[in-house]
Amino acid sequence: MKIVRTVDELTALRNDNSFKGKRLGFVPTMGALHEGHASLIRRSVAENDCTVVSVFVNPRQFNDPNDYKNYPITTDADIALLESVKCDILYLPTADDIYNGYDGCKMDFHGLDRMYEGEFRPGHFQGVVDIVYRLFDLVKPDFAYFGEKDFQQVAIIKLMVKQKNLPLTIVPCPIVREESGLAKSSRNKLLTAEQLEVAPQIYRIITETCAEIPESQTPDALIETLKSKIDSVKFMKMEYAAFCNSENLELLSKFDKKIGTRLCIAVWCGNIRLIDNINCDIK
Ligand code: PAF
Repeated sequence: MKIVRTVDELTALRNDNSFKGKRLGFVPTMGALHEGHASLIRRSVAENDCTVVSVFVNPRQFNDPNDYKNYPITTDADIALLESVKCDILYLPTADDIYNGYDGCKMDFHGLDRMYEGEFRPGHFQGVVDIVYRLFDLVKPDFAYFGEKDFQQVAIIKLMVKQKNLPLTIVPCPIVREESGLAKSSRNKLLTAEQLEVAPQIYRIITETCAEIPESQTPDALIETLKSKIDSVKFMKMEYAAFCNSENLELLSKFDKKIGTRLCIAVWCGNIRLIDNINCDIK
């Protein structure tokens, strides 16, 4: 695996003739890699001639300075995982270099940057599109792979690609879970042993509460039920839960079996914020 660290090195590599006519897959990450990332990279390796992975803890997308300061960094383990899944190129930028002379990405979020995650993490999605747009411009992938754990992020990046008319395809990939049901996340590494024991309750509660929802039920009533179940688990506090149209992420005020429905949720487990989402079956 080749490791590049600067914009100049990456640009030189990308302009190399050996890339001509090759299909290039890209997996942007913030490191602390786990099986969820590995599944995206394996898919990219299987579907492309060359796979680039970036590892960069992007300061612009953290609304909470402590979250940024505590974000896990495991570079040696990341490199070992990337070698094991046959990644071709690892891009390890620095903030000074990648943001040098770059203004950011202006786009119309259609209000999505202020809803759900955006309501509780102001500026987060602007930070995400800033870095992803820049990375797409440098890497110039044909396909870019994103995990659906960040369901809203995938929708916003798709919107950005459409608005900017970028010549690439976004490939959303299913959430990878622990055997316990807990969605794999770099932030799981920050949970204490006791918190890790209760964290799977999030998935258990959402799947149990949202299995086969009758159309007559109301989203508000179900959100109340979710809140009381989650808040009764030790360490846990639900920040929000929302039922939305899985295509355009519009908030649903009533259930309709003709509309694909996604439940998105954020829960504090101690001082670690975990997110999850599931597809809901409306009857
Ligand atoms: O999902 C992530 O890990 C990050 O938001 C991303 C897409 C790598 C941008 O920093």
